[in-house]
Amino acid sequence: MSDFEEIINTRRSIREYQDKEVSDEDILKILKAGMQAPGSRLGAEPWEFVVVKNKETLAKLGEIKPRVTNAPVAIVLVANIERAFYKLVWQQDMGAAAENMLLEAVNLGLGALWNGVAPEEERMKAIGEIIGIDDITQTKPYCIITIGYPAEGWENKFMDKFDEERIHYEKY
Ligand SMILES: Cc1cc2nc3c(=O)[nH]c(=O)nc-3n(C[C@H](O)[C@H](O)[C@H](O)COP(=O)(O)O)c2cc1C
Repeated sequence: MSDFEEIINTRRSIREYQDKEVSDEDILKILKAGMQAPGSRLGAEPWEFVVVKNKETLAKLGEIKPRVTNAPVAIVLVANIERAFYKLVWQQDMGAAAENMLLEAVNLGLGALWNGVAPEEERMKAIGEIIGIDDITQTKPYCIITIGYPAEGWENKFMDKFDEERIHYEKY
């Protein structure tokens, strides 16, 4: 199996982490992977990122998304619509970045979880307030990616999700 196949096939949602710090170097690699994602218009990607390590802030975010509380680091993905060219497809752009970040975390021997935020307005507002966004009209918290070394029993491992019935050739 190539490294790529290994990463894509073993990635799992890792919801619990060891009490061990993630290095700034690894965090930066994960941010870079996010920014390498395809976007609906080159040079007009909406993504911005808020890296949170402060325990109090993590606990506040955890009141809305419980898995954030005990993560060593959380990255809030924020869509800045003013940066976007195709303003209606920001959720697709952000999703591409999020998936790249999850895969890079596996590549680095870490575990990660996509904690959904958008499109629920109330949740986006509440997360925004915690990280310093007062108005979510143009600046929208999309999801929170928690990252850490997987706790016992939470390792990345292969799970077969293939379903032949979902494949259609030529016509649906
Ligand atoms: C849009 C989206 C939102 C998600 N939100 C959450 C969430 O809030 N909490 C959570 O524990 N998992 C969340 N997940 C992770 C899914 O539950 C997980 O990907 C799914 O159960 C499949 O498991 P796997 O990631 O191990 O393949 C989310 C995933 C996506 C794509």
